[in-house]
Amino acid sequence: MSNALTIKALSKIYANDFHALKGIDLSIKEGDFFALLGSNGAGKTTIIGIVCGLLEKTAGSISVLGLNQDNSAYEVKRLIGLMPQEFNFNPFEPIEEILINQAGYHGIARTHAKIYAEILLKRMELWDKRLDMAKSLSGGMKRRLMLARALIHKPKILILDEPSAGVDVEIRRSMWAFLRELNKEGVTIILTTHYLEEAESLCRNIAIVDNGKVIEQTSMKRLLSKVSQQTLILESGEKLPQIPVKLDFSVTQLDDYSLEVVLESTTSITQALQILGEHGINIDHVRSAQNRLETLFLNLTSGK
Ligand SMILES: Nc1ncnc2c1ncn2[C@@H]1O[C@H](COP(=O)(O)OP(=O)(O)O)[C@@H](O)[C@H]1O
Ligand SMILES: [Mg+2]
Repeated sequence: MSNALTIKALSKIYANDFHALKGIDLSIKEGDFFALLGSNGAGKTTIIGIVCGLLEKTAGSISVLGLNQDNSAYEVKRLIGLMPQEFNFNPFEPIEEILINQAGYHGIARTHAKIYAEILLKRMELWDKRLDMAKSLSGGMKRRLMLARALIHKPKILILDEPSAGVDVEIRRSMWAFLRELNKEGVTIILTTHYLEEAESLCRNIAIVDNGKVIEQTSMKRLLSKVSQQTLILESGEKLPQIPVKLDFSVTQLDDYSLEVVLESTTSITQALQILGEHGINIDHVRSAQNRLETLFLNLTSGK
């Protein structure tokens, strides 16, 4: 299979002389579900902006499905759908018009666009709102609108810049399910995130961007095996029974309702909850005791 996106020695120096990208190399296969993971300011949005032709690069090369961006800027734009990090539609435009106009920008006739806009708006549960101005939508709806707009010209590659920002849990889940479906249909998906959990549950491959450089590109599986331990806080809605002394993982009772467990990479959260359940310990809420992304960065950058 060919590459969906190849980036070579990409560098970006902003007008204020800030060196935001310092030689990025990336190669993403067609059909992949790929994460660019990195903390705020790492350079993710800058990479995306250059790939989408919204920002000028300083040096380097980009090719999209075999097309060199310098020679085929228009075709490359046509192949990519972008859901940007910030809302950037006209707030006074009715949402159906936003989709149809975006299609027009890609050279798609209005009559065609209208048919596909209906499908997308229904899929995003926005059909009832089609005549409403974008500004009247809730945060989650605005994000779904941006996703629909990114897809209106049926791009082969969908790029999502921080798709979960400002989206509540339920909408996030249905959006994730939709993204998985799209990927199954063959759309290459690239997302940026600073949540390891988001990358983990969606993506097969990953690059970690730190300070304008790619410090790791690998499969999600291999990456996670490097996060050797995770510490979780488990909470129960009812008073906890006696904690068995011997379990496959370490458990410390914090108070009547909560436990701290330390899992090695060989035990998943689901397995741990099941084992606890077999001992009559029913957990209602799980959260991470530490920021796993930070731990991961520490693991990756120590030794380098
Ligand atoms: N227009 C700009 N001018 C100068 N510096 C910028 C500009 N845009 C972004 N930066 C800087 O470049 C770095 C990377 O930013 P960005 O690509 O937005 O990171 P990320 O998306 O990973 O949070 C940050 O330090 C940011 O402050
Ligand atoms: Mg960003």
